[in-house]
Amino acid sequence: MNHFRNYNLARASLRPRYWLVAGLIGLLAGLIGGPALAEDVELAKAEKDCLACHDKEGVNKTLQNGEVLSMRISTKAFVESMHKENSCEDCHADLDAKTHGKVKSDIKSKRDYTVSQADVCRECHKKKYTQYDDSVHAAMIKEGSKKAPLCSDCHNPHTVKSFKEVLPIEATPCLKCHEPIFKAYSKDVHGLERVAKGKSAPLCADCHQAHDVKAASMGEGIKDACLSCHKEAVAQHQDWLPNTGRHFAAISCPACHAPDAKRRVNLRLFDSATNVQMSEKTGVPQFARRADEADSKGMGLDERALWSLLKEFSQDSSSGKTVLRGRLEVQSGVEAHQLSEKSKALKDCNACHKEGASPFQSVTLTIAGPDGRPLRHGVQKDVLSSLTSMDSVRGFYAIGSTRIKLLDYLLIMVMAGAVCVPIGHMTVKLLFKGVREKLEAERLVAAAGGTDAATPATSPASSTEQAPK
Ligand code: HEC
Ligand code: HEC
Ligand code: HEC
Ligand code: HEC
Ligand code: HEC
Ligand code: HEC
Ligand code: HEC
Ligand code: HEC
Ligand code: HEC
Repeated sequence: MNHFRNYNLARASLRPRYWLVAGLIGLLAGLIGGPALAEDVELAKAEKDCLACHDKEGVNKTLQNGEVLSMRISTKAFVESMHKENSCEDCHADLDAKTHGKVKSDIKSKRDYTVSQADVCRECHKKKYTQYDDSVHAAMIKEGSKKAPLCSDCHNPHTVKSFKEVLPIEATPCLKCHEPIFKAYSKDVHGLERVAKGKSAPLCADCHQAHDVKAASMGEGIKDACLSCHKEAVAQHQDWLPNTGRHFAAISCPACHAPDAKRRVNLRLFDSATNVQMSEKTGVPQFARRADEADSKGMGLDERALWSLLKEFSQDSSSGKTVLRGRLEVQSGVEAHQLSEKSKALKDCNACHKEGASPFQSVTLTIAGPDGRPLRHGVQKDVLSSLTSMDSVRGFYAIGSTRIKLLDYLLIMVMAGAVCVPIGHMTVKLLFKGVREKLEAERLVAAAGGTDAATPATSPASSTEQAPK
């Protein structure tokens, strides 16, 4: 309670004429004590004066671009808001009392007005700015986006409520700009749970953060959020999913939990020394240009093009080594929010571990764009699976010098054919170990002898033979 008094006083001390008002409010609150209820809030004369003009039907202003901005501020909503103890002047110090309301001000558009007021909250909410400044939304604004949110796009300063209250999911500010995702979310396992039971199930900001929002498919932030609520999840998957850690690293949670989603393999470029995902340098759009050049027919990058791109990016990277890391994910943002109850989740090993499995029919290459969001380019699916691509895959090994686990694995799948089902987890593991070792050996031989694309004579039978050793 006391600290908002402090905000008022701190600001008021800068403007002597507010000493009296603020002092009186402070004194009054000190005398009364306890939390002020909405109906107890007695607005100061200054606020009443403003609202005498502003709390009227139909006070509108037509802006230069033709948009109509309502000038109406509801006294009731303001008095019930978290800012009820602030004076209008706290945020509107730049108005000229002499001309205000008489001379029309120049405002180009709603967006222009919002942008011009964007720093208003800084003085009292510094910490939120620090978080927000690091977000994908703020980065988009820096890149010139006209659509990314500023503070007042998500919080109406005149009506803002406490987030400690459980509001209906429709009150989430994200809905305004991400409606298709909101619709999907509101029908998925969490949206339904949130409506039925309130606070425990996540709303947008519980998975994405509210201020420090990051690009969704980058980093581990969302996965960590899932696991912070579902603390037992790793152990529960381990009961049936061998090497859960590796699966979780290579597959996004929605790829299994949104059963109807279309999936794809996303090859992500990493700098192998820093272990950071490669990103486009601001102002030097290279990725799109290079990828377009390498893929002149627009059919998706083939093995050769992918390899030469990788070489180019390696020259740019600090370590001189760019590696690809595969990740299985859903194809659209909407599908990422169609999580179902657990009984519908993908459990069939063959859905992935079978030649021609559908998730591997669509492949993209991504890099982080200047605002942190992914830039994508299509890749021909053969890059992953055709035996003739062995050589360029070896090339990646050489350049990357790290094992590209997904590619590695996919090759094994192609060669070993349908593997899993009844053999049991240990057998499966051993089997894979065997094939891996064999592949590695072949690779070393090829590297040493400089032989060309000799296809290893691995067959399901021979790989099974390797298993028991
Ligand atoms: C005499 C009536 C009147 C009073 C009193 C008044 N306003 Fe206004 N206000 C207006 C009108 C009319 C406009 C629209 C001006 C225009 O069309 O450019 C306006 C516009 C505004 C705007 C929009 C931005 C801008 O620069 O046009 C803000 C913010 C605002 N008023 C805040 C306040 C605050 C805060 C107070 C009290 C300190 C206040 N007003 C008192 C009539 C009034
Ligand atoms: C916590 C800060 C804050 C307080 C307190 C505040 N305003 Fe505002 N006000 C803003 C911001 C920020 C905007 C710009 C909103 C936007 O982006 O359109 C604004 C916009 C307005 C507008 C333009 C119409 C609109 O809704 O955009 C009017 C009129 C206005 N304020 C009047 C008032 C009056 C009257 C009071 C006191 C009763 C008041 N404000 C208190 C921050 C504040
Ligand atoms: C993209 C929407 C969005 C933007 C932009 C945004 N906020 Fe928030 N803010 C939220 C949501 C959602 C919550 C409540 C949930 C939470 O905190 O996790 C929240 C909570 C808050 C809270 C109260 C919660 C607390 O932890 O005390 C404050 C204060 C706040 N925001 C201020 C700001 C300021 C200042 C800015 C501008 C720098 C800003 N917000 C920008 C969505 C946004
Ligand atoms: C003069 C100081 C001041 C300014 C400027 C200001 N606020 Fe606040 N804000 C407060 C105070 C005081 C509270 C009361 C809650 C608290 O104790 O933090 C508050 C509460 C909030 C809350 C609700 C926090 C919660 O507990 O859920 C949000 C959201 C918020 N402000 C957003 C904004 C935004 C957006 C702006 C700019 C348009 C802004 N504020 C400008 C002082 C200010
Ligand atoms: C004023 C509009 C607006 C609001 C409100 C808004 N966003 Fe955004 N957001 C955008 C725009 C525009 C983009 C870039 C286009 C896109 O990816 O949809 C974006 C991008 C994002 C991204 C990155 C997308 C990616 O490619 O990974 C995430 C995550 C995100 N928003 C989450 C949120 C969350 C969570 C909220 C609510 C707390 C929110 N947004 C509120 C406009 C908004
Ligand atoms: C390979 C597919 C796959 C991946 C990847 C996956 N899951 Fe699952 N998950 C399942 C299946 C299948 C079940 C149901 C298991 C059962 O009930 O036998 C399940 C069950 C769950 C359950 C319910 C646990 C219980 O027993 O009550 C939660 C929570 C869950 N998963 C969260 C996650 C999270 C979080 C991630 C990402 C870190 C994730 N899952 C990744 C397939 C997967
Ligand atoms: C249960 C956690 C969770 C909740 C709740 C959630 N999201 Fe997401 N969101 C995700 C995941 C997971 C992804 C996909 C990340 C990936 O590709 O790995 C995602 C992706 C996104 C993206 C990027 C889409 C794209 O085009 O790539 C946006 C934007 C987004 N979410 C906004 C929202 C909004 C708005 C809400 C609330 C209506 C919301 N999210 C609720 C987990 C969540
Ligand atoms: C704020 C906490 C929270 C976060 C974050 C969260 N969940 Fe949940 N989740 C819940 C709650 C609560 C339920 C419903 C109760 C239950 O079944 O556990 C639920 C249900 C589920 C279920 C259905 C389980 C079943 O028994 O059928 C799955 C699957 C699931 N979550 C996956 C995820 C994934 C994937 C993420 C991240 C993208 C995630 N959750 C993030 C709280 C959370
Ligand atoms: C959604 C697709 C998907 C499903 C379903 C799936 N996997 Fe996997 N699995 C993968 C991918 C992708 C990898 C490669 C991960 C890596 O190497 O980084 C992998 C790796 C493996 C590995 C090799 C791990 C290692 O140590 O190298 C084994 C063994 C395996 N899976 C067995 C299974 C079994 C058994 C099932 C069924 C119970 C199953 N998987 C279900 C996609 C899937």
